[in-house]
Amino acid sequence: MSAAYLIREATEADLAQIMDLENDCFGNDAWDQDTMHFEVVAHHTYYIAAFDKAAVNETLIGYAGLSKIPGNEQADIQTIAVAESARGKGIGKALMQELLKEARRLQAEELFLEVRADNPAAQNLYLALGFEHIDTRKRYYQPDDVDAWVMRLQFARSTTGREPIVLGIETSCDETGIGIVRGNTLLANIISSSMEEHARFGGVVPEIAARAHLEALRPTLHQALAKANLSLKDIDAIAVTNGPGLGGALMVGVGAAKALSVALEKPIYAVNHLVGHVGVDILERGQLETPTVALLVSGGHTSLLLVRDLLDDVELLGETIDDAAGEAFDKIARVLGLKYPGGPEIDKAAVGGDPKAIRFPRGLTLPKDMEKHRYDFSFSGLKTAVARWVEKAEAAGEEINVADVAASFREAVADVLVTKAVNACLDHKVPRLLLGGGVVANARLRELAQQKCDEHGIELRIPALSLCTDNGAMIAALGAQLIMAGRAPSSLHFGADSTLPVTSVQTH
Ligand code: KG4
Ligand code: ZN
Repeated sequence: MSAAYLIREATEADLAQIMDLENDCFGNDAWDQDTMHFEVVAHHTYYIAAFDKAAVNETLIGYAGLSKIPGNEQADIQTIAVAESARGKGIGKALMQELLKEARRLQAEELFLEVRADNPAAQNLYLALGFEHIDTRKRYYQPDDVDAWVMRLQFARSTTGREPIVLGIETSCDETGIGIVRGNTLLANIISSSMEEHARFGGVVPEIAARAHLEALRPTLHQALAKANLSLKDIDAIAVTNGPGLGGALMVGVGAAKALSVALEKPIYAVNHLVGHVGVDILERGQLETPTVALLVSGGHTSLLLVRDLLDDVELLGETIDDAAGEAFDKIARVLGLKYPGGPEIDKAAVGGDPKAIRFPRGLTLPKDMEKHRYDFSFSGLKTAVARWVEKAEAAGEEINVADVAASFREAVADVLVTKAVNACLDHKVPRLLLGGGVVANARLRELAQQKCDEHGIELRIPALSLCTDNGAMIAALGAQLIMAGRAPSSLHFGADSTLPVTSVQTH
Protein backbone atom coordinates (compact mmCIF):
# COMPACT_ATOMS: atom_id res chain seq x y z
CA MET A 1 0.00 0.00 0.00
CA SER A 2 1.19 3.46 -0.83
CA ALA A 3 1.43 5.88 2.07
CA ALA A 4 -1.54 8.20 2.47
CA TYR A 5 0.76 11.07 3.34
CA LEU A 6 3.56 13.00 1.80
CA ILE A 7 6.67 14.28 3.54
CA ARG A 8 8.65 17.25 2.30
CA GLU A 9 10.91 19.92 3.71
CA ALA A 10 8.99 22.51 5.73
CA THR A 11 9.05 26.17 4.71
CA GLU A 12 8.03 29.50 6.19
CA ALA A 13 4.70 29.14 4.39
CA ASP A 14 3.88 26.16 6.63
CA LEU A 15 4.47 28.11 9.81
CA ALA A 16 0.85 28.92 10.61
CA GLN A 17 -0.19 25.28 10.33
CA ILE A 18 2.87 24.16 12.29
CA MET A 19 2.02 26.54 15.13
CA ASP A 20 -1.57 25.27 15.27
CA LEU A 21 -0.32 21.72 15.61
CA GLU A 22 2.43 22.74 18.05
CA ASN A 23 -0.15 24.30 20.35
CA ASP A 24 -2.49 21.34 20.03
CA CYS A 25 0.21 18.81 20.79
CA PHE A 26 2.30 20.53 23.43
CA GLY A 27 -0.03 22.97 25.22
CA ASN A 28 2.06 24.34 28.07
CA ASP A 29 5.36 23.29 26.52
CA ALA A 30 4.63 24.74 23.08
CA TRP A 31 7.25 26.99 21.47
CA ASP A 32 6.23 30.49 20.52
CA GLN A 33 5.96 31.45 16.88
CA ASP A 34 9.23 33.42 16.76
CA THR A 35 11.25 30.50 18.09
CA MET A 36 9.59 28.14 15.63
CA HIS A 37 10.14 30.53 12.76
CA PHE A 38 13.84 30.85 13.60
CA GLU A 39 14.33 27.08 13.77
CA VAL A 40 12.40 26.28 10.58
CA VAL A 41 14.45 28.69 8.46
CA ALA A 42 17.85 28.35 10.20
CA HIS A 43 20.74 26.98 8.17
CA HIS A 44 21.84 24.47 10.76
CA THR A 45 18.39 22.85 10.98
CA TYR A 46 16.34 20.54 8.81
CA TYR A 47 12.57 20.72 9.31
CA ILE A 48 10.16 18.45 7.52
CA ALA A 49 6.38 18.35 7.33
CA ALA A 50 3.88 15.57 6.62
CA PHE A 51 0.69 16.29 4.70
CA ASP A 52 -2.48 14.32 4.20
CA LYS A 53 -2.53 13.23 0.56
CA ALA A 54 -6.30 12.74 0.58
CA ALA A 55 -7.07 16.32 1.67
CA VAL A 56 -7.87 18.84 -1.05
CA ASN A 57 -5.67 21.57 0.37
CA GLU A 58 -2.32 20.83 1.92
CA THR A 59 -3.32 19.76 5.42
CA LEU A 60 -0.43 19.44 7.82
CA ILE A 61 -0.59 16.31 9.93
CA GLY A 62 2.92 16.25 11.37
CA TYR A 63 6.32 17.85 11.45
CA ALA A 64 9.75 17.24 12.88
CA GLY A 65 13.05 19.05 13.06
CA LEU A 66 16.71 18.21 13.35
CA SER A 67 19.63 20.42 14.32
CA LYS A 68 23.23 19.75 13.36
CA ILE A 69 25.92 22.38 13.70
CA PRO A 70 28.58 21.92 10.98
CA GLY A 71 31.78 20.46 12.42
CA ASN A 72 29.95 19.05 15.42
CA GLU A 73 29.58 15.27 15.35
CA GLN A 74 26.36 15.34 17.32
CA ALA A 75 22.90 16.11 16.05
CA ASP A 76 19.65 16.67 17.94
CA ILE A 77 16.06 15.91 17.18
CA GLN A 78 14.53 19.20 18.27
CA THR A 79 10.89 18.37 17.92
CA ILE A 80 8.40 15.95 16.46
CA ALA A 81 4.62 16.15 16.44
CA VAL A 82 1.82 14.20 14.79
CA ALA A 83 -1.80 15.39 14.76
CA GLU A 84 -3.96 13.32 17.08
CA SER A 85 -6.31 12.34 14.24
CA ALA A 86 -3.36 11.00 12.21
CA ARG A 87 -1.69 8.86 14.86
CA GLY A 88 -1.15 5.11 14.51
CA LYS A 89 -0.40 5.36 10.77
CA GLY A 90 3.35 5.28 10.98
CA ILE A 91 3.76 9.01 10.31
CA GLY A 92 5.93 9.57 13.38
CA LYS A 93 8.17 6.74 12.31
CA ALA A 94 8.39 8.02 8.75
CA LEU A 95 9.30 11.52 9.98
CA MET A 96 11.95 10.09 12.27
CA GLN A 97 13.41 7.94 9.51
CA GLU A 98 13.69 10.97 7.27
CA LEU A 99 15.56 12.87 9.99
CA LEU A 100 17.82 9.88 10.62
CA LYS A 101 18.67 9.79 6.94
CA GLU A 102 19.51 13.47 6.98
CA ALA A 103 21.63 13.13 10.15
CA ARG A 104 23.61 10.38 8.45
CA ARG A 105 23.97 12.42 5.30
CA LEU A 106 25.34 15.26 7.42
CA GLN A 107 27.82 12.74 8.86
CA ALA A 108 26.57 12.95 12.43
CA GLU A 109 27.98 10.21 14.63
CA GLU A 110 25.39 10.50 17.37
CA LEU A 111 21.82 11.69 17.45
CA PHE A 112 20.13 12.84 20.67
CA LEU A 113 16.57 13.52 21.70
CA GLU A 114 14.51 14.11 24.79
CA VAL A 115 11.16 12.52 25.42
CA ARG A 116 8.69 12.76 28.27
CA ALA A 117 9.07 9.93 30.77
CA ASP A 118 5.28 9.51 30.65
CA ASN A 119 5.14 8.90 26.89
CA PRO A 120 5.88 5.18 26.40
CA ALA A 121 4.51 5.13 22.83
CA ALA A 122 7.15 7.62 21.70
CA GLN A 123 9.87 5.91 23.73
CA ASN A 124 9.09 2.59 22.09
CA LEU A 125 9.26 4.11 18.64
CA TYR A 126 12.68 5.58 19.39
CA LEU A 127 13.90 2.31 20.92
CA ALA A 128 12.76 0.46 17.79
CA LEU A 129 14.73 2.93 15.67
CA GLY A 130 17.89 2.12 17.63
CA PHE A 131 17.92 4.84 20.29
CA GLU A 132 18.92 3.93 23.84
CA HIS A 133 17.90 5.58 27.08
CA ILE A 134 21.12 7.09 28.46
CA ASP A 135 20.05 9.62 31.06
CA THR A 136 17.05 11.06 32.89
CA ARG A 137 16.55 14.77 33.55
CA LYS A 138 14.48 15.12 36.66
CA ARG A 139 11.32 17.22 36.46
CA TYR A 140 12.41 18.66 33.14
CA TYR A 141 8.92 19.33 31.84
CA GLN A 142 7.28 22.11 33.85
CA PRO A 143 4.74 22.88 35.12
CA ASP A 144 3.75 19.19 34.75
CA ASP A 145 6.74 18.09 36.82
CA VAL A 146 7.54 15.25 34.44
CA ASP A 147 11.02 13.78 33.90
CA ALA A 148 12.72 13.73 30.52
CA TRP A 149 14.45 10.70 29.11
CA VAL A 150 17.57 11.54 27.18
CA MET A 151 17.98 9.08 24.32
CA ARG A 152 20.88 8.56 21.99
CA LEU A 153 21.39 6.77 18.70
CA GLN A 154 24.92 5.93 17.65
CA PHE A 155 25.40 5.48 13.94
CA ALA A 156 27.39 2.46 12.84
CA ARG A 157 30.93 3.61 12.30
CA SER A 158 33.47 2.24 9.95
CA THR A 159 37.22 2.09 10.11
CA THR A 160 37.63 3.68 6.71
CA GLY A 161 35.75 6.92 6.41
CA ARG A 162 32.00 7.00 6.93
CA GLU A 163 30.94 4.26 4.60
CA PRO A 164 30.34 0.96 6.37
CA ILE A 165 32.05 -2.20 5.18
CA VAL A 166 29.36 -4.84 5.08
CA LEU A 167 29.67 -8.58 4.60
CA GLY A 168 26.63 -10.14 2.90
CA ILE A 169 25.69 -13.81 3.18
CA GLU A 170 23.23 -15.41 0.77
CA THR A 171 22.14 -19.06 0.99
CA SER A 172 18.46 -19.03 0.01
CA CYS A 173 18.73 -21.50 -2.86
CA ASP A 174 21.65 -23.30 -4.48
CA GLU A 175 24.18 -20.46 -4.55
CA THR A 176 26.41 -19.80 -1.57
CA GLY A 177 27.08 -16.11 -2.07
CA ILE A 178 29.46 -13.98 -0.05
CA GLY A 179 29.69 -10.32 -0.97
CA ILE A 180 31.52 -7.39 0.55
CA VAL A 181 30.67 -3.75 -0.07
CA ARG A 182 31.86 -0.42 1.26
CA GLY A 183 28.79 1.78 1.22
CA ASN A 184 27.63 1.71 -2.39
CA THR A 185 30.86 0.23 -3.69
CA LEU A 186 31.32 -3.42 -4.54
CA LEU A 187 34.50 -4.93 -3.08
CA ALA A 188 33.94 -8.66 -3.61
CA ASN A 189 31.26 -10.97 -4.97
CA ILE A 190 32.13 -14.66 -4.68
CA ILE A 191 29.64 -17.37 -5.53
CA SER A 192 29.87 -21.10 -5.05
CA SER A 193 27.05 -23.00 -6.67
CA SER A 194 25.85 -26.52 -5.96
CA MET A 195 24.07 -26.55 -9.32
CA GLU A 196 25.99 -29.57 -10.61
CA GLU A 197 25.02 -31.68 -7.63
CA HIS A 198 21.35 -31.14 -8.53
CA ALA A 199 21.78 -31.84 -12.22
CA ARG A 200 20.86 -35.51 -12.11
CA PHE A 201 17.61 -34.65 -10.31
CA GLY A 202 16.63 -31.98 -12.85
CA GLY A 203 16.00 -29.39 -10.16
CA VAL A 204 17.30 -28.07 -6.83
CA VAL A 205 17.10 -30.66 -4.03
CA PRO A 206 16.73 -28.70 -0.77
CA GLU A 207 18.72 -31.09 1.45
CA ILE A 208 21.60 -31.21 -0.99
CA ALA A 209 21.59 -27.41 -1.23
CA ALA A 210 21.69 -26.97 2.56
CA ARG A 211 24.56 -29.40 2.93
CA ALA A 212 26.49 -27.76 0.11
CA HIS A 213 26.13 -24.36 1.81
CA LEU A 214 27.66 -25.77 4.97
CA GLU A 215 30.66 -27.00 3.03
CA ALA A 216 31.04 -23.93 0.84
CA LEU A 217 30.59 -21.16 3.41
CA ARG A 218 34.07 -21.02 4.88
CA PRO A 219 36.06 -21.23 1.67
CA THR A 220 33.73 -18.75 -0.04
CA LEU A 221 34.05 -16.32 2.86
CA HIS A 222 37.84 -16.52 2.78
CA GLN A 223 37.90 -16.03 -0.96
CA ALA A 224 35.71 -12.94 -0.64
CA LEU A 225 37.90 -11.44 2.09
CA ALA A 226 41.00 -12.11 -0.01
CA LYS A 227 39.40 -10.51 -3.04
CA ALA A 228 38.48 -7.41 -1.02
CA ASN A 229 41.90 -7.42 0.59
CA LEU A 230 40.33 -7.31 4.04
CA SER A 231 40.29 -9.42 7.16
CA LEU A 232 37.28 -10.21 9.32
CA LYS A 233 38.18 -7.48 11.80
CA ASP A 234 37.68 -4.84 9.07
CA ILE A 235 34.01 -5.76 8.69
CA ASP A 236 31.61 -3.24 10.27
CA ALA A 237 28.42 -5.26 9.96
CA ILE A 238 26.99 -8.54 8.70
CA ALA A 239 23.94 -8.77 6.45
CA VAL A 240 22.20 -12.06 5.76
CA THR A 241 19.26 -13.29 3.72
CA ASN A 242 16.64 -14.63 6.11
CA GLY A 243 13.99 -15.28 3.44
CA PRO A 244 12.26 -16.07 1.23
CA GLY A 245 13.88 -19.30 0.04
CA LEU A 246 14.48 -22.90 1.02
CA GLY A 247 14.16 -23.24 4.81
CA GLY A 248 17.12 -25.52 5.42
CA ALA A 249 19.36 -23.59 3.06
CA LEU A 250 18.45 -20.26 4.66
CA MET A 251 19.17 -21.64 8.11
CA VAL A 252 22.78 -22.35 7.21
CA GLY A 253 23.41 -18.73 6.23
CA VAL A 254 21.46 -17.31 9.16
CA GLY A 255 23.40 -19.50 11.63
CA ALA A 256 26.74 -18.54 10.13
CA ALA A 257 25.84 -14.84 10.14
CA LYS A 258 24.77 -14.92 13.78
CA ALA A 259 27.94 -16.74 14.77
CA LEU A 260 30.06 -14.13 12.99
CA SER A 261 28.07 -11.30 14.54
CA VAL A 262 28.59 -12.66 18.05
CA ALA A 263 32.23 -13.58 17.56
CA LEU A 264 33.19 -10.29 15.93
CA GLU A 265 30.85 -8.21 18.11
CA LYS A 266 29.42 -6.58 15.00
CA PRO A 267 25.80 -5.66 14.25
CA ILE A 268 23.71 -8.00 12.11
CA TYR A 269 21.03 -7.10 9.57
CA ALA A 270 18.51 -9.76 8.45
CA VAL A 271 17.31 -8.79 5.00
CA ASN A 272 14.87 -9.84 2.31
CA HIS A 273 16.30 -11.74 -0.64
CA LEU A 274 13.92 -10.26 -3.23
CA VAL A 275 14.54 -6.70 -2.11
CA GLY A 276 18.26 -7.53 -2.38
CA HIS A 277 17.78 -8.30 -6.08
CA VAL A 278 16.35 -4.80 -6.49
CA GLY A 279 18.93 -2.98 -4.37
CA VAL A 280 21.83 -4.47 -6.31
CA ASP A 281 21.43 -1.73 -8.92
CA ILE A 282 23.04 0.64 -6.42
CA LEU A 283 26.36 -1.16 -6.87
CA GLU A 284 26.41 -0.23 -10.54
CA ARG A 285 24.79 3.17 -10.54
CA GLY A 286 25.57 4.47 -7.06
CA GLN A 287 21.86 4.79 -6.37
CA LEU A 288 18.51 3.20 -7.10
CA GLU A 289 16.14 5.34 -9.12
CA THR A 290 12.65 5.08 -7.69
CA PRO A 291 9.87 4.43 -8.25
CA THR A 292 10.72 1.40 -10.28
CA VAL A 293 8.98 -1.80 -11.29
CA ALA A 294 11.18 -4.87 -10.80
CA LEU A 295 10.73 -8.20 -12.55
CA LEU A 296 12.58 -10.95 -10.67
CA VAL A 297 12.81 -14.23 -12.52
CA SER A 298 14.87 -17.22 -11.44
CA GLY A 299 14.63 -20.90 -10.70
CA GLY A 300 13.01 -20.09 -7.36
CA HIS A 301 10.90 -17.01 -7.92
CA THR A 302 8.92 -15.04 -10.46
CA SER A 303 7.80 -11.80 -8.90
CA LEU A 304 6.72 -8.41 -10.09
CA LEU A 305 7.37 -5.65 -7.58
CA LEU A 306 6.55 -1.97 -7.37
CA VAL A 307 9.34 -0.27 -5.46
CA ARG A 308 8.58 3.26 -4.35
CA ASP A 309 11.32 3.25 -1.74
CA LEU A 310 13.87 0.46 -1.36
CA LEU A 311 13.83 0.43 2.44
CA ASP A 312 10.27 1.40 3.21
CA ASP A 313 7.85 0.83 0.39
CA VAL A 314 8.08 -2.34 -1.66
CA GLU A 315 4.83 -3.78 -2.94
CA LEU A 316 4.28 -7.22 -4.44
CA LEU A 317 2.17 -6.68 -7.55
CA GLY A 318 2.13 -10.31 -8.58
CA GLU A 319 3.99 -13.60 -8.64
CA THR A 320 3.79 -17.06 -10.09
CA ILE A 321 0.92 -19.17 -8.88
CA ASP A 322 2.74 -22.41 -9.74
CA ASP A 323 6.21 -22.88 -11.28
CA ALA A 324 8.91 -20.24 -11.36
CA ALA A 325 10.02 -19.15 -14.85
CA GLY A 326 13.44 -20.79 -14.47
CA GLU A 327 11.78 -23.99 -13.30
CA ALA A 328 9.69 -24.02 -16.47
CA PHE A 329 12.88 -23.78 -18.54
CA ASP A 330 14.43 -26.61 -16.54
CA LYS A 331 11.38 -28.87 -16.94
CA ILE A 332 10.97 -28.23 -20.65
CA ALA A 333 14.67 -28.87 -21.19
CA ARG A 334 14.07 -32.33 -19.72
CA VAL A 335 11.14 -32.93 -22.06
CA LEU A 336 13.39 -32.01 -24.98
CA GLY A 337 16.24 -34.20 -23.71
CA LEU A 338 18.45 -31.22 -22.88
CA LYS A 339 20.74 -30.83 -19.87
CA TYR A 340 20.15 -29.09 -16.51
CA PRO A 341 19.99 -26.15 -15.94
CA GLY A 342 17.60 -25.85 -18.83
CA GLY A 343 17.60 -22.10 -19.44
CA PRO A 344 20.96 -21.80 -21.19
CA GLU A 345 20.33 -25.07 -23.10
CA ILE A 346 16.99 -23.87 -24.43
CA ASP A 347 18.53 -20.52 -25.32
CA LYS A 348 21.14 -22.37 -27.38
CA ALA A 349 18.68 -24.79 -28.93
CA ALA A 350 16.37 -21.93 -29.94
CA VAL A 351 18.96 -20.28 -32.14
CA GLY A 352 17.70 -20.57 -35.72
CA GLY A 353 14.30 -21.84 -34.57
CA ASP A 354 11.03 -20.16 -35.53
CA PRO A 355 9.37 -18.56 -32.47
CA LYS A 356 6.05 -18.54 -34.34
CA ALA A 357 6.19 -22.21 -35.36
CA ILE A 358 3.91 -23.28 -32.50
CA ARG A 359 1.59 -20.97 -30.62
CA PHE A 360 2.00 -22.13 -27.01
CA PRO A 361 -0.39 -20.71 -24.37
CA ARG A 362 0.43 -17.53 -22.44
CA GLY A 363 -0.59 -18.20 -18.83
CA LEU A 364 -3.08 -15.89 -17.09
CA THR A 365 -3.51 -13.53 -20.02
CA LEU A 366 -7.14 -14.22 -20.94
CA PRO A 367 -9.53 -11.40 -20.02
CA LYS A 368 -11.15 -13.48 -17.26
CA ASP A 369 -7.73 -14.24 -15.70
CA MET A 370 -6.48 -10.69 -16.10
CA GLU A 371 -9.17 -9.41 -13.76
CA LYS A 372 -7.86 -11.37 -10.80
CA HIS A 373 -4.32 -12.08 -11.90
CA ARG A 374 -3.25 -9.05 -13.89
CA TYR A 375 0.32 -9.27 -12.62
CA ASP A 376 0.48 -12.96 -11.70
CA PHE A 377 2.15 -15.66 -13.75
CA SER A 378 1.46 -19.33 -14.40
CA PHE A 379 3.75 -21.67 -16.28
CA SER A 380 2.29 -25.09 -15.53
CA GLY A 381 -0.20 -24.92 -18.42
CA LEU A 382 2.59 -23.98 -20.81
CA LYS A 383 4.71 -26.84 -19.52
CA THR A 384 1.88 -29.33 -20.09
CA ALA A 385 1.16 -27.90 -23.54
CA VAL A 386 4.77 -28.33 -24.63
CA ALA A 387 4.96 -31.85 -23.20
CA ARG A 388 1.70 -32.82 -24.98
CA TRP A 389 2.87 -31.35 -28.23
CA VAL A 390 6.10 -33.34 -28.08
CA GLU A 391 4.29 -36.57 -27.07
CA LYS A 392 1.80 -36.19 -29.90
CA ALA A 393 4.49 -35.57 -32.46
CA GLU A 394 6.43 -38.58 -31.20
CA ALA A 395 3.34 -40.78 -31.26
CA ALA A 396 2.70 -39.72 -34.84
CA GLY A 397 6.28 -40.64 -35.68
CA GLU A 398 7.11 -37.08 -36.71
CA GLU A 399 10.59 -35.71 -36.39
CA ILE A 400 10.65 -33.00 -33.75
CA ASN A 401 12.25 -29.73 -34.71
CA VAL A 402 13.83 -28.95 -31.33
CA ALA A 403 14.89 -25.47 -32.44
CA ASP A 404 11.29 -24.56 -33.28
CA VAL A 405 9.89 -25.98 -30.06
CA ALA A 406 12.58 -24.26 -27.96
CA ALA A 407 12.11 -20.94 -29.75
CA SER A 408 8.31 -21.10 -29.49
CA PHE A 409 8.43 -22.03 -25.80
CA ARG A 410 10.98 -19.31 -25.04
CA GLU A 411 8.83 -16.81 -26.92
CA ALA A 412 5.78 -17.70 -24.83
CA VAL A 413 7.68 -17.18 -21.55
CA ALA A 414 9.38 -13.96 -22.62
CA ASP A 415 6.13 -12.59 -24.03
CA VAL A 416 4.17 -13.06 -20.80
CA LEU A 417 6.95 -11.79 -18.57
CA VAL A 418 7.59 -8.66 -20.60
CA THR A 419 3.93 -7.87 -21.33
CA LYS A 420 2.95 -8.04 -17.66
CA ALA A 421 6.00 -6.07 -16.50
CA VAL A 422 5.40 -3.34 -19.07
CA ASN A 423 1.70 -3.25 -18.14
CA ALA A 424 2.73 -2.71 -14.52
CA CYS A 425 4.93 0.23 -15.55
CA LEU A 426 2.17 1.78 -17.65
CA ASP A 427 -0.61 1.18 -15.10
CA HIS A 428 1.41 2.75 -12.30
CA LYS A 429 3.02 5.42 -14.49
CA VAL A 430 6.48 4.20 -13.56
CA PRO A 431 9.01 4.96 -16.31
CA ARG A 432 11.54 2.33 -15.16
CA LEU A 433 11.88 -1.42 -15.26
CA LEU A 434 14.63 -3.34 -13.48
CA LEU A 435 15.30 -7.03 -14.17
CA GLY A 436 16.84 -9.53 -11.76
CA GLY A 437 17.31 -13.29 -11.31
CA GLY A 438 19.10 -15.95 -13.37
CA VAL A 439 16.49 -16.07 -16.15
CA VAL A 440 17.59 -12.55 -17.08
CA ALA A 441 20.39 -14.32 -18.96
CA ASN A 442 17.77 -15.34 -21.52
CA ALA A 443 18.59 -13.76 -24.86
CA ARG A 444 15.00 -13.42 -26.06
CA LEU A 445 13.78 -12.01 -22.75
CA ARG A 446 16.44 -9.30 -22.88
CA GLU A 447 15.70 -8.47 -26.50
CA LEU A 448 11.94 -8.32 -26.08
CA ALA A 449 12.18 -6.31 -22.85
CA GLN A 450 14.40 -3.75 -24.58
CA GLN A 451 12.08 -3.53 -27.56
CA LYS A 452 8.89 -3.08 -25.51
CA CYS A 453 10.50 -0.63 -23.12
CA ASP A 454 11.80 1.46 -26.02
CA GLU A 455 8.31 1.49 -27.53
CA HIS A 456 6.83 2.91 -24.34
CA GLY A 457 9.63 5.21 -23.24
CA ILE A 458 10.48 3.02 -20.25
CA GLU A 459 14.07 2.93 -19.07
CA LEU A 460 15.26 -0.68 -18.82
CA ARG A 461 17.92 -1.62 -16.28
CA ILE A 462 19.65 -4.99 -16.47
CA PRO A 463 22.48 -5.35 -13.95
CA ALA A 464 25.54 -7.43 -14.85
CA LEU A 465 24.63 -11.11 -14.83
CA SER A 466 26.91 -11.81 -11.85
CA LEU A 467 24.69 -9.43 -9.88
CA CYS A 468 21.41 -10.76 -11.35
CA THR A 469 21.87 -14.36 -10.23
CA ASP A 470 21.73 -15.02 -6.51
CA ASN A 471 24.70 -13.42 -4.79
CA GLY A 472 25.93 -12.06 -1.47
CA ALA A 473 26.86 -8.63 -2.83
CA MET A 474 23.20 -7.65 -3.19
CA ILE A 475 22.60 -8.65 0.42
CA ALA A 476 25.62 -6.65 1.59
CA ALA A 477 24.45 -3.67 -0.49
CA LEU A 478 20.99 -3.75 1.10
CA GLY A 479 22.56 -4.04 4.56
CA ALA A 480 24.74 -1.01 3.81
CA GLN A 481 21.67 0.97 2.75
CA LEU A 482 19.96 0.16 6.04
CA ILE A 483 23.04 1.19 8.01
CA MET A 484 23.48 4.43 6.08
CA ALA A 485 19.81 5.23 6.67
CA GLY A 486 20.50 4.92 10.38
CA ARG A 487 18.43 1.76 10.89
CA ALA A 488 19.00 -0.24 14.05
CA PRO A 489 20.48 -3.71 13.64
CA SER A 490 18.33 -6.82 13.89
CA SER A 491 18.29 -8.62 17.22
CA LEU A 492 19.63 -12.16 17.32
CA HIS A 493 16.09 -13.50 17.64
CA PHE A 494 15.17 -13.56 13.96
CA GLY A 495 14.92 -16.87 12.17
CA ALA A 496 14.85 -18.13 8.61
CA ASP A 497 11.46 -17.47 7.01
CA SER A 498 10.94 -19.35 3.76
CA THR A 499 7.83 -17.30 2.91
CA LEU A 500 9.04 -13.90 4.11
CA PRO A 501 6.81 -11.28 2.43
CA VAL A 502 8.46 -8.67 0.26
CA THR A 503 7.08 -5.89 2.45
CA SER A 504 9.44 -7.03 5.19
CA VAL A 505 12.72 -5.50 3.99
CA GLN A 506 14.50 -6.02 7.32
CA THR A 507 13.52 -8.44 10.08
CA HIS A 508 14.20 -7.10 13.54
O1 KG4 B 1 19.01 -16.84 -10.14
P1 KG4 B 1 19.48 -18.21 -10.41
O2 KG4 B 1 20.91 -18.40 -10.79
O3 KG4 B 1 19.26 -19.07 -9.13
C1 KG4 B 1 18.26 -19.87 -8.70
O4 KG4 B 1 17.09 -19.65 -8.99
O5 KG4 B 1 18.68 -20.78 -8.02
O6 KG4 B 1 18.57 -18.82 -11.56
C2 KG4 B 1 18.75 -20.08 -12.11
C3 KG4 B 1 17.64 -20.33 -13.07
C4 KG4 B 1 17.59 -21.73 -13.59
O7 KG4 B 1 16.27 -22.20 -13.52
C5 KG4 B 1 18.05 -21.59 -15.01
O8 KG4 B 1 17.48 -22.54 -15.89
C6 KG4 B 1 17.59 -20.20 -15.36
O9 KG4 B 1 17.80 -19.45 -14.20
N1 KG4 B 1 18.38 -19.67 -16.47
C7 KG4 B 1 17.85 -19.33 -17.64
C8 KG4 B 1 18.93 -18.95 -18.48
N2 KG4 B 1 20.07 -19.04 -17.75
C9 KG4 B 1 19.71 -19.49 -16.52
N3 KG4 B 1 16.58 -19.33 -18.08
C10 KG4 B 1 16.37 -18.94 -19.33
N4 KG4 B 1 17.34 -18.58 -20.18
C11 KG4 B 1 18.62 -18.56 -19.80
N5 KG4 B 1 19.58 -18.21 -20.66
ZN1 ZN C 1 17.02 -14.87 -6.23
